Amino acid sequence: MFDLSWFSLEGKVAVVTGGSRGIGQAIAQGFAKAGATVVVTSRKIDDLEETASRIKAAGGEALAVQAHLGKMPEIARLVDTVMERYGRIDILVNNAGASPAMASVLDAEERLWDTIMNLNMKGLYFLSQAAARIMKEKGGGKIINVASIDGFHPERTVSIYSISKAGVRMITKAFASELASFNIQVNTIAPGPIRTKMMDSHWHDLSPEEKEKAVKATDRLIPMGRIGVPDDIVGAAVYLASSASNYTTGTEIVIDGAVLLAPLIDAPGVPI
Ligand SMILES: NC(=O)c1ccc[n+]([C@@H]2O[C@H](COP(=O)([O-])OP(=O)(O)OC[C@H]3O[C@@H](n4cnc5c(N)ncnc54)[C@H](OP(=O)(O)O)[C@@H]3O)[C@@H](O)[C@H]2O)c1
Repeated sequence: MFDLSWFSLEGKVAVVTGGSRGIGQAIAQGFAKAGATVVVTSRKIDDLEETASRIKAAGGEALAVQAHLGKMPEIARLVDTVMERYGRIDILVNNAGASPAMASVLDAEERLWDTIMNLNMKGLYFLSQAAARIMKEKGGGKIINVASIDGFHPERTVSIYSISKAGVRMITKAFASELASFNIQVNTIAPGPIRTKMMDSHWHDLSPEEKEKAVKATDRLIPMGRIGVPDDIVGAAVYLASSASNYTTGTEIVIDGAVLLAPLIDAPGVPI
């Protein structure tokens, strides 16, 4: 019979990529509250230490590990560090992602393609592979891939990002299919617009008043009337990381305030 304890992450070791801020930080803090030991990883160690300190101050257990996840040797080093410290990975959240510049399909350059694909797809794929090998040995695990509604509906000026996020959705399905018999569940969370540094960076050249106007204009485009916040993603992440989702794999949870259901989501310049 169902019990609320199914949502507990007590005794689990979770790795959250891009855990230093935004959606990843909210997930890391949520996982720690649910009982997990959380490893947060990204490129900037100071930001990671800050997140780890917040988790510890709230009574949780956390480790900050610096890694550029678009680089294969750093992915290997991350996995080695977690295994040396904890000897297992029960949960992997592939949340780190980037869209460092905008360009039309006529102007996008190879360097932009490589930067986005190396992090959003290649790094995600091979970190998942490394974690899945460990999970198989240990009898199971959970992988959660953070895609985007742009992976369903291409966004003008961020085509490469949109393509990468469509790829993330397929990585989820491919891994879920092959790993189902090893008790490893792999699922996607696809956020819509969420107020983080990623979203704010697209308004960085605006004055505070112009930025406020842009935020309000974006709010109006969203059927639920507001841009989301990182905490809007945490409940789904805890569910997909916990034993409550043990028969759920290869699926997608869209968290977007109904943006995908709205006909007019083509405002350029906001990669979501
Ligand atoms: N915000 C939205 O509206 C939205 C909508 C849909 C999907 N998403 C997706 O949600 C995820 C999180 O986005 P966010 O909005 O929270 O973004 P964010 O605030 O920009 O955070 C991105 C995180 O990824 C890390 N990161 C970036 N490049 C990295 C690299 N090469 N190696 C390792 N870590 C790296 C960053 O830390 P460092 O700088 O320290 O590396 C940071 O922790 C992304 O996959 C994004 O595509 C966001």
